[in-house]
Amino acid sequence: MPSLRHEIRFLLNETPVTVSEAAPDTTLLSFLRLERRLTGSKEGCAEGDCGACTVMVGRLAGGELVYEAVTSCIRLLPSLDGCHVVTVEHLSRDGGLHPIQQALVDAHGSQCGFCTPGIAMALYALWLRSPAPGVTEIERALQGNLCRCTGYQPIVDAALSLPRYGTPDADPLAMGRAAVQQQLAAWQDGARVELAHGDARAILPADGDDFAAALADNAGATIVAGATDVGLWVTKRFQAISPAIFIGHLAGLQQVEAEEAGLRLGAGISYAQALPHLLDRFPHLAELWWRIGGDQIRSMGTIGGNIANGSPIGDTPPAFIALAATLTLRSRRGARTLPLEDFFIAYGRQDRGADEFVESVFLPYPEPGRHDAAYKLSKRRDEDISAVCGAFSLRLEGETVAALRIAYGGMAATPRRAAAVEAALLGRPWSAASLAGAATAFDADFQPIGDWRASADYRRTAARNLLRRFHLQTTGMAGLRLSRETAA
Ligand code: FES
Ligand code: FES
Repeated sequence: MPSLRHEIRFLLNETPVTVSEAAPDTTLLSFLRLERRLTGSKEGCAEGDCGACTVMVGRLAGGELVYEAVTSCIRLLPSLDGCHVVTVEHLSRDGGLHPIQQALVDAHGSQCGFCTPGIAMALYALWLRSPAPGVTEIERALQGNLCRCTGYQPIVDAALSLPRYGTPDADPLAMGRAAVQQQLAAWQDGARVELAHGDARAILPADGDDFAAALADNAGATIVAGATDVGLWVTKRFQAISPAIFIGHLAGLQQVEAEEAGLRLGAGISYAQALPHLLDRFPHLAELWWRIGGDQIRSMGTIGGNIANGSPIGDTPPAFIALAATLTLRSRRGARTLPLEDFFIAYGRQDRGADEFVESVFLPYPEPGRHDAAYKLSKRRDEDISAVCGAFSLRLEGETVAALRIAYGGMAATPRRAAAVEAALLGRPWSAASLAGAATAFDADFQPIGDWRASADYRRTAARNLLRRFHLQTTGMAGLRLSRETAA
């Protein structure tokens, strides 16, 4: 049994903070603004979409100190144990402007100013890892920040001009890095943390075994990983989440193992952490990955959370189902593994016992020559949820379909395979005629609903067209078709 601690400890800018009483649903933003009177971080949307509340959080990952931009409106306070929270107040010292702020001023990168603290912090996180960022890097760093009045060009110009204003080496955060790292390491005591506020309880298990024990003793507790979903239960539904078990700090759930037959991703790995590991064997996922939230959400949201919440429009399940992923669930009783598609039973119902948690997802390596693709359609390009997501995995023998897996999100109450479409195409030539012949099979697989994201008709049409797009891409016709259309 690990030792027990009844307080969390973290650095807030330069100040060590201890909190011994906090409800599990206390957001970092409310703590900053209401308890500490640090009002630079703004509340725009309170759902992780606008970036006005952006701060940086530093944490130890494999002994290294890593800083990431996060949205403080949905980041829950107990998850900050052992971290370094850096707010916009850290930037300006002794009345002088920080290089990021000066660049924004000089490029006229702010009008009403409401979004500006969040934009400054998003750019600060970018500048620390990439002192002379290019346009693509800048656009990605700003995917999670909305500005309603300046327009983005002056902000991008400010970011491009950053090398003229100094280097991160001279930044107080870089210069104090060793001391921060030492402090965070000293706080790692291997204890379980339990916080209470009235009847509400937050538990931070010491490790994976302790997580299994905590869940067995608190069956049905809310599991909080990155809080990109649970945070909205708090801020939008005012839902009680106690008892809540926080797992974002568990290094054992963030392991990535390149096994002989495939890649095993710990459930607690964030989208940002996962991407470099996926690129080698699953490069087709990169495009989808850059469409997940913005930088802040990709730093917070986890692979396991995206699967475990069972959303029919989660970004990763269709892509992983098409790749024949398996899921390992664990409890104090032991571990079990099942095909990912079998995990999703019905809307809001997954094959997970009240004492079980998602431990890892396993992606078998593709055979040479296999074609894989994953496409996401949403109303906005960035920081939006899928209307339809389609993922495809195809092996041809000559011109014939020898193996095919198709999975969609947004087409049913769960992410689901298109079993009838697959059956209609298997063993047939991989041709436009075969696709046309399989079109009616979509109706056997899916009766999508219409909602404010997309009508049922749109979803039906889009799902068929994504399959056509995959066909055009695998047959090398996509560029040809595009140039013909352009010429017309
Ligand atoms: Fe909009 Fe936090 S207030 S992302
Ligand atoms: Fe007004 Fe960005 S400056 S919202």
